[in-house]
Amino acid sequence: MDQRIIGMIENVVGKEGYSTKTADLYTYGFDASIFHNSPDIVVQPRTTEQVSEIMKIANSERIPVVPRGAGTGLCGSAVPMKGGIVLAMQKMDKIKNVSVEDLWVDVEAGCVYDDLNRELLKHGFFFPPSPGSAEACQVGGMVATNASGMRAVKYGATRDFVLGLTFVKADGEIVRAGTRTIKDSSGYQLARLMCGSEGTLGVITEVTFKIATKPKKSASCLCGFDDVEDAGRCIAGLIAKPLIPASCELMDSVSIEAVNKARGNPLPACKAICIVEVDGETDEIIHRDLKIVEEVAKEKGAISVTPSFDAKEISKWTDARKSVMTSLSALKPGYSSVSLADDMGVPVSRVPEAVKAFQGIAAKYGVTIATYGHASDGNLHTKMLIDPTDKDEWERGVKAVDEIFDVCIELGGTVTGEHGVGISKAPNYMKERASELSSIIAIKKAMDPENILNPGKMEQWHGSILTHLRYPCKEII
Ligand code: LAC
Ligand code: ZN
Repeated sequence: MDQRIIGMIENVVGKEGYSTKTADLYTYGFDASIFHNSPDIVVQPRTTEQVSEIMKIANSERIPVVPRGAGTGLCGSAVPMKGGIVLAMQKMDKIKNVSVEDLWVDVEAGCVYDDLNRELLKHGFFFPPSPGSAEACQVGGMVATNASGMRAVKYGATRDFVLGLTFVKADGEIVRAGTRTIKDSSGYQLARLMCGSEGTLGVITEVTFKIATKPKKSASCLCGFDDVEDAGRCIAGLIAKPLIPASCELMDSVSIEAVNKARGNPLPACKAICIVEVDGETDEIIHRDLKIVEEVAKEKGAISVTPSFDAKEISKWTDARKSVMTSLSALKPGYSSVSLADDMGVPVSRVPEAVKAFQGIAAKYGVTIATYGHASDGNLHTKMLIDPTDKDEWERGVKAVDEIFDVCIELGGTVTGEHGVGISKAPNYMKERASELSSIIAIKKAMDPENILNPGKMEQWHGSILTHLRYPCKEII
């Protein structure tokens, strides 16, 4: 980047507020996806006004800008594919105001999810979406991807908690969108439009989240099955009862085997498990709901049912579930667990069909696929094990995920339930959203006429996703 522009940026954020060191540029070229590309400069703003000044420079000089939280995203949303400026938000991490009587909190975009919840818990409240990356991810990134996790089935995803937010437009204008009221019928819901926009419409700098009361009691039940479809039927059966669990995590046999191998057998060796968590205000509610879970699981063919109130045992199960992605590599030395089709959503009643279809697709293309996820909201994760030096495996892998996405769309689902589109899901996102595409393109043009905000992502992605890979095969055409 030329010195003139670096000088203009330094005038806004000072010497401490940016870096052009090769090591920093390399580091900020990653998120947790399969892609990598270095930016030309990393800028760490401290205020919304600084973001605004940086955007004015970028807009008049036509420099791409990629807003970035903690870089925990799995599909390339924060990778600066066209270089330019990475706006790293971690210095804007303040919790500005907790107003419990109004049920909201005002927080800066760079605040870490767990830090926000530690503060809210002091008041008996929480911000529930619970992404897998809770200890690192930042709330601005959560809004930008409409992130969620284990608790979405009962409490909702990030967008369900956004009352309002502040964002900076491509030309530097500062916009306060939405309200600080629980209800709001005041025209277009611009704050909602920013949910899932992945840095392509504006830079989110502050958010007003609605907060929820934290239930006093919880317990879990681990149900084992010798058929993954039974596990899927158990989950749909619970919801239909009706019992909305606080969380309900499904793992298939590949996921169980990988975790047991990598972490010293924390789980029963069977074909599928569901870890069902129930929560509520009293012990009576918890006992009642656990009993329902046991009954439904047995009715749907569970071969083991283990309720637990023991926090240690429950966190052993939860940690095991959270480690699937990293444990998978333990199954085959030299292979990597890669995120290609990583977080599809289907209607809950179609989970058994979807899981069965994924297994068939893995066999057809000769790849190892682990299926797991937050199945009670229909959100299924797959991770694929491939040799990242083998072009043929990458190609088979992409064919397999294209089929996985087709299955999910046919079942009335989505290619991404909680991680976003970025690059890895872009071609199939366009298929899924075909009917909305011309409106999406028009909105992007209106908000960012010079196309500087995270350009080339989502509906702007063209061509193969096997490019700019972080692995030894960098390009596979
Ligand atoms: C999880 C992340 C990957 O649920 O969404 O583990
Ligand atoms: Zn998840």
